[in-house]
Amino acid sequence: MANGSAGQNGVTQVPSHSDGIPAALPAKTSAQKNVVKYLPSEYYQSFLSLVAKERKPSPIRSLFPLEATPGLISLLAGKPNATTFPLTSLQFTARSPTDPSQDISIKVTDEQLAEALQYGATSGNPSLVNWVYGLQEFSHGRKKGEGWRISIGSGSQDLIYKAVNAMVNPGDSVLVESPVYAGVIPMFQTLHCDQIEVATDSNGISSASLREILESWPSSKPKPKVLYTVPYGCNPTGMTATLERRKEVLALSREHDFIILEDDPYYYLYYGDAARPPSYFALELEEPEAGRVLRFDSLSKILSAGIRIGFVSGPDVLVQAMDSHTATANLQVSGLTQILTSSLLNQWGYEAFKIHTESVSSFYRKKRDVFEGALKRHLDGLAEWSTPEAGMFVWFKLLLSSNASSSDEGDSEAIIKTKAFEKGVLALPGTVFLPNGRKTAYVRASFSLLEEGDVDEAVRRLREAILEARSEALSTS
Ligand SMILES: Cc1ncc(COP(=O)(O)O)c(C=O)c1O
Repeated sequence: MANGSAGQNGVTQVPSHSDGIPAALPAKTSAQKNVVKYLPSEYYQSFLSLVAKERKPSPIRSLFPLEATPGLISLLAGKPNATTFPLTSLQFTARSPTDPSQDISIKVTDEQLAEALQYGATSGNPSLVNWVYGLQEFSHGRKKGEGWRISIGSGSQDLIYKAVNAMVNPGDSVLVESPVYAGVIPMFQTLHCDQIEVATDSNGISSASLREILESWPSSKPKPKVLYTVPYGCNPTGMTATLERRKEVLALSREHDFIILEDDPYYYLYYGDAARPPSYFALELEEPEAGRVLRFDSLSKILSAGIRIGFVSGPDVLVQAMDSHTATANLQVSGLTQILTSSLLNQWGYEAFKIHTESVSSFYRKKRDVFEGALKRHLDGLAEWSTPEAGMFVWFKLLLSSNASSSDEGDSEAIIKTKAFEKGVLALPGTVFLPNGRKTAYVRASFSLLEEGDVDEAVRRLREAILEARSEALSTS
């Protein structure tokens, strides 16, 4: 794809950038302005769950904006009086992205601190929300006011849960890539959903598998409303969906009317050699109408996991339904966490943010190389894998039978939980990432934390466990 070339509907495409997040979009020509078409609000009514339809706007929170009316005296909310709050100032230091040897000192202004200490907007602190709007334009070419909006959550997990709640009814069929992030399986299981597994391979989600599922869908059964996928450095497979696959999945979402839940916490951890493919959120600008992508971002992997900040970007009606959930469940994300994040990000700006994320992704690329080196040294002939180009996971298949023609690939669970653990190494058996919990010879290993020596030793121990399992299998056959 040529940088900044015009897409099918005249919308400027997102230029790709080989070593990090895409460069900022070039300004649109006047002919290209205001050409983004998006689906109307009514379109989403059939996507809302019964629970979401039942939720009424919070009688107090929905009136919050009126408090800004000039001259108004508000007796509205039960806000505690801030003069009783003990915190008087907030200042912190952070590493400079451009010169990591330097700490920069950041002081939250008194006004911002007062705002952060009080109850605030359900969808997030305005300064953070605005920064995120700018980021989505910088990274994905999506402009504020073009049929989508943002809401801040306590990490992306919070938002994914609320999105599922807002759209999925008990017993619904849902499309999930398989293997799938184990953190969403219980969301669907507790709703007794029929989780339809869409195959994946080293090119990410298989659009052919998705097409087959949808084209053979029984006419008597409602089609799934959502597809859940992790397009970069997938958890658990480590794979990144190719541009071609993404385009096909988007086309299928249009043909078969489903919303793509684009869970993308590893977007900024892309370290592949090839140009990165644009996100679904960016690519849908090439669709006749945008509005079939609900995108989840997370700051957990690039700023801090404990800071608990994620954001959702997508159609107004769906994000509003999620906000109604927040207004009932937890009111808002911690104001302090939001102001700390927004102060840091506003201090940095988008270019410094990009520099920071590039240094994080190259950190994980080195970790990937070290881990893969150990796999090659110790598990040659004992395991198979594809090299991840983003994220922090390797998904590998244990070759448990020395008989290559054996049709039974075996089960990694017993080996990982017993033999490997006894030898002093822990990893996750692949079965936990399969919605139906069937057996698999796959294992997920995370390479985010270990030093080189520990990696080598861990994989050497795995080798011993596999060899032991193989020899036991031989003696019982
Ligand atoms: C695919 C995926 N989605 C969501 C999450 C949750 O991230 P957060 O910390 O933003 O809630 C994780 C965390 O590991 C993840 O791997």
